Amino acid sequence: MRFFSLAGLLALPLALTVAQEDAGGPDEAVPYTLEEVELQIDEYLDHINATDPTSADEDPDVAARSLPSGCSLACGFLNFARPNDLFYPNDPEYQYLESRYWSQQQAGVEPECRFTPRSAAHVSLAVLTARVVKCEFAVKSGGHAAFAGASSAQDGLTIDLIHLTNIEVSSNKKKTTVGAGNVWYDVYSDLTPQGLTVVGGRVSAIGVGGLTLGGGLSFVSNRHGWACDNVDAYEVVFADGSIRKVTKNAYSDLYWALRGGGNNFGIVTSFDLATYAQGDFWAGVQTFFYTDETSAAINDAFYHLGLRSSEDPYAQVIMAYAYAQVIDSFVIASDLQYSKPVVNPPILQNFTSIPGAIADTMRITDLPGLTVEFNDTNPGGFRQSYWTLTVGNDADLMGEMVAIYKDEVEGIKDAPGIVPSAVFQLITEDMITHMSKNGGNPLGLQSQQGPLNLLNIAISWSNAADDARILAAAQRMVDRSRAAAQARGLDHPFLYQNYASQFQDVFASYGSANLARLRQISKKYDPTKVWQKLQKGYFKLG
Ligand SMILES: Cc1cc2nc3c(=O)[nH]c(=O)nc-3n(C[C@H](O)[C@H](O)[C@H](O)COP(=O)(O)OP(=O)(O)OC[C@H]3O[C@@H](n4cnc5c(N)ncnc54)[C@H](O)[C@@H]3O)c2cc1C
Ligand SMILES: *[C@@H]1O[C@H](CO)[C@@H](O)[C@H](O)[C@H]1NC(C)=O
Ligand SMILES: *[C@@H]1O[C@H](CO)[C@@H](O)[C@H](O)[C@H]1NC(C)=O
Ligand SMILES: *[C@@H]1O[C@H](CO)[C@@H](O)[C@H](O)[C@H]1NC(C)=O
Repeated sequence: MRFFSLAGLLALPLALTVAQEDAGGPDEAVPYTLEEVELQIDEYLDHINATDPTSADEDPDVAARSLPSGCSLACGFLNFARPNDLFYPNDPEYQYLESRYWSQQQAGVEPECRFTPRSAAHVSLAVLTARVVKCEFAVKSGGHAAFAGASSAQDGLTIDLIHLTNIEVSSNKKKTTVGAGNVWYDVYSDLTPQGLTVVGGRVSAIGVGGLTLGGGLSFVSNRHGWACDNVDAYEVVFADGSIRKVTKNAYSDLYWALRGGGNNFGIVTSFDLATYAQGDFWAGVQTFFYTDETSAAINDAFYHLGLRSSEDPYAQVIMAYAYAQVIDSFVIASDLQYSKPVVNPPILQNFTSIPGAIADTMRITDLPGLTVEFNDTNPGGFRQSYWTLTVGNDADLMGEMVAIYKDEVEGIKDAPGIVPSAVFQLITEDMITHMSKNGGNPLGLQSQQGPLNLLNIAISWSNAADDARILAAAQRMVDRSRAAAQARGLDHPFLYQNYASQFQDVFASYGSANLARLRQISKKYDPTKVWQKLQKGYFKLG
């Protein structure tokens, strides 16, 4: 048994403070090592054990830790080191943070505690703490991943990046440094008045972290590529607790892996995003009742846009088929965006000439306004499931996939609160070409493949009792659509991570060579598999 060391105890908070300040400026910093954190946890334990048992009983948290185990020790130690940034389930702040998940499934996950780092050094401390005591952890940015545990650790430690919200435009306006805890609304609201933008999410409340690490399809991706292709530098907390700047030139293999590798390669604390001039949009939604004629016209317009997109890359569209339970009808939301303030440009006229819209919000708008409109149509608080599939660009196949979707909805449409949708987007040739920027990314998309049609099955509903049958229907929508594509020779392996369900094998879909390279890079930087094993949730290299 160790003796209580007053000197050690007093030194602990001091050592932590000093280390935090050291980590501010340089590109490379080692605020803590595993050994140091181990020592500090030892001293902390001595302190706990030396505490008068009578006074300990007055504090239920301390009493619960008298027999320390993995995560209770991690939480206790972080609470000791950062008392204002560690929350237990009985704290109102914990409840607030839990309420910021989009899906009910994620909000229902109860970590033993939630830690809210205010710097990369605090993230480093949390990771090393989790390693020392072998506590499972998860990382949250915007909390929009749908399935349980994607960004929260049941009975574990959830590291919530909510305070990493710096946004800083470089003096030449070519780069914006964005903290990983930002949501896109805040980033765009900062940049738009300056006539600038970065490539990011289309719904205001989406997090910078998850969207950018999984890929990131934006309103301006025809012109600039996906979000991951527009990251000039990542500030990353490595598994050994060091904080490093990862760029095309520094840790270039890791730089490649981070551009679609999800949470498998470290915790990113900030992104340097390529920054572009951007003014207002002409954009909005035209809503139709489903009819076979309208659907055929929309699918045809979508197909032709796929062929001709590069003639005018300012145009992008999202075609969402949905079922509206209150009126027992299918509807089509035709989301059109033109990233210039030009009304009804020729490239979009095959869509705008379709008659019969029952609602139309097309207008000149700025980016923050557009993302709020999209946020309003994706409310939080429901059960949610996302699924994905990629196929060739073909109007008849798209029609067949819509029919499959509608057929499967018939079997689940009575579920209380259900809003099932099938959302189609083009992965255009321009987008794929931009993916070769900066040495390429691991997604496995090649430009000679032509435009692709990216399907996102997105279903929300109210009751857990309906989970099993809804997930089964979603699985069948994807399986039957894949079979339909295969029958036409139009199937494609790509599964987009940010739209995938927990049952889909995202990294296998990147192709065997890319997966092998990702695994090799993971082994090099994370030999003890901190990100693969100790960090739960989302898609792993398997
Ligand atoms: C309503 C809605 C709209 C969407 N719109 C778009 C869109 O326009 N374009 C698009 O491409 N996708 C879109 N998506 C998908 C979206 O990109 C994913 O859901 C993404 O995971 C959300 O990121 P997040 O930070 O909000 O989620 P989180 O749940 O916080 O994170 C998702 C995953 O990333 C990990 N992660 C997050 N931050 C970090 C970090 N800093 N370091 C390491 N790991 C991290 C988490 O651990 C988790 O595993 C949308 C999703 C929804 C629900
Ligand atoms: C603290 O006390 C507990 C229970 O008495 C014991 O299991 C543990 O080993 C002690 N820790 C240290 C570091 O002495
Ligand atoms: C519009 O649709 C027609 C066929 O219906 C097609 O020939 C034309 O290329 C399309 N135009 C654009 C801009 O997509
Ligand atoms: C997005 O919508 C939710 C309601 O579902 C709301 O609570 C949140 O404030 C909105 N966020 C932004 C950034 O618009």
